[in-house]
Amino acid sequence: MKSVNFKGAEPVDVKTNMPVLEALLAKQVDVMMLCGGRGLCATCHVYVTRNPHCLTPITEREKKTLALLSGAQSNSRLACQAQVIAEGVEIALPEGLYLESTSSLESLIGKRTQVPILHPIDGRILIEAGKIITRSSIMQLKDVDFDVKEVQLT
Ligand code: FES
Repeated sequence: MKSVNFKGAEPVDVKTNMPVLEALLAKQVDVMMLCGGRGLCATCHVYVTRNPHCLTPITEREKKTLALLSGAQSNSRLACQAQVIAEGVEIALPEGLYLESTSSLESLIGKRTQVPILHPIDGRILIEAGKIITRSSIMQLKDVDFDVKEVQLT
């Protein structure tokens, strides 16, 4: 077993060589896993804030996907791809809520979003924190539904 630390929260133990995703799920982080853990979306994106050498090296697929993520930094990893191989890695989650489909926003029309609403494939901010969700803003996001279908068919 190896422990995975979370900035400002209790660590979680996962079996050696398991993906960081296991730690997120054990922590009951709501990870959408839109691509089914195939390294093709933004929904399991994390930042490694300490001891990146405790994870397996970044794969070519992961590099390609991270290159498309607007919130990616040099310490970004995909939790479904990075496996825990040593003790002491520390993870932080990007701020925001990934949008699964535009229909999931309809119940929020007229409400102000507390966190940024993020594109599930490339991680870009679709609606900034503090903005009111309107029907017209949802209509402008219809391409998200198409992008989600595409990644699920890939
Ligand atoms: S779940 Fe899609 S990249 Fe990890």
